[in-house]
Amino acid sequence: MTEHRRAPDAIPPDAVNLADYEGLAAERLDPNAWAYVAGGAGDENTIRWNREALTRLQLNPRIMRGRPGGNTRVEILGHTYAHPILVAPVAYQRLAHPDGESATAAAAAAQDAGFVLSMLASQTLESVSETAGPRRWLQLYMLAQRDDTLDLVRRAEAAGYEALVLTVDAPVSGVRDRERRSSFALPAGITAVNLAGYAPACPPDTYTSLIFDHFVSLAPNWSDIEWLAGQTRLPLILKGVLHPDDAELAIVHGAAGIIVSNHGGRTLDTVPATIDVLPAVADRVAGRIPVLMDGGIRRGTDVFKAIASGATAILVGRPIVYGLAVAGPFGVAHILKLLRDELEIAMALAGCSTLADIGPTHLIRP
Ligand code: FNR
Ligand code: LAC
Repeated sequence: MTEHRRAPDAIPPDAVNLADYEGLAAERLDPNAWAYVAGGAGDENTIRWNREALTRLQLNPRIMRGRPGGNTRVEILGHTYAHPILVAPVAYQRLAHPDGESATAAAAAAQDAGFVLSMLASQTLESVSETAGPRRWLQLYMLAQRDDTLDLVRRAEAAGYEALVLTVDAPVSGVRDRERRSSFALPAGITAVNLAGYAPACPPDTYTSLIFDHFVSLAPNWSDIEWLAGQTRLPLILKGVLHPDDAELAIVHGAAGIIVSNHGGRTLDTVPATIDVLPAVADRVAGRIPVLMDGGIRRGTDVFKAIASGATAILVGRPIVYGLAVAGPFGVAHILKLLRDELEIAMALAGCSTLADIGPTHLIRP
């Protein structure tokens, strides 16, 4: 085997959980990519809290409630999903594997998982849609020029994306110490190809923080949300809601769903863990629109805890990249299968046959 060639994708026999994949990915990703993927904002308190808050929550199982016909199905925006585990939008996946987002999309389809493609993908949304399953959404940022945002929306519609995820927690890039320390740069050939042709023109290898300076609208507001929601038949989901009042405003201004997210601790350090703010947001929404959540989900019990705290479904970010780095599409599929199997086991052991059976009484909050 020559040095420049990747070993064939294969699931390592000793990878039995998501933490194992993280450890293996740390060895396989180059330090540049590792700093970008694993790192976050500031002192990375929020990254740590996302995990700590989930771990600290205790489960309160019930016994002897077996029922035939158990399943993990969930209905989101008129479509049935086999389970509540979705792939979060993650930029530049060719940093982890030459097949990038296409490999992730194919793995998600194989595991019946919803898939969200990042606007900052390293492959075009049209080409990724060819390997993706039907449950695919496109994530975008509001661009500096409305015409460019609209063009992206029309392309998503034409390529069969079923929903738009507008990320609203990052009008600027966060303070990324790890990236600065490693002088993170996109390697040759990896670019935000979906933005080619949009204004203002900028060099194709421009890295994220510059992308933000060039393309992304620096001060979107609620009137932009209303405008965008009125431009498309696709449901608009706002990603990055933490405050119950913002959840209310999202509904008022036409959002079809929200994602409770702190961007995996990558934007504003010391905002709370998502699992800690989720109950108040879900209470305020009171079932009017789906409430998804992400941040620190690494175990089936974490998925269970999010559902018990009011989430309709969850998304998983970094572990997808770790699966991709370790074993390509097989790694991503394995990550999703591990989470789903663990969720089913947690449900069986907690006395819940369906997601609807899972509720706040199954948790002990510290
Ligand atoms: C992200 N995330 C992200 N979110 C988004 O809306 N658009 C994007 O392009 C990206 N890009 C991105 C790149 C990388 C490397 C990471 C790790 C994350 C955030 C992502 O969608 C999600 O909110 C978090 O990753 C969830 O936290 P966990 O699962 O990584 O702990
Ligand atoms: C990030 C941006 C791309 O988190 O959302 O890196």
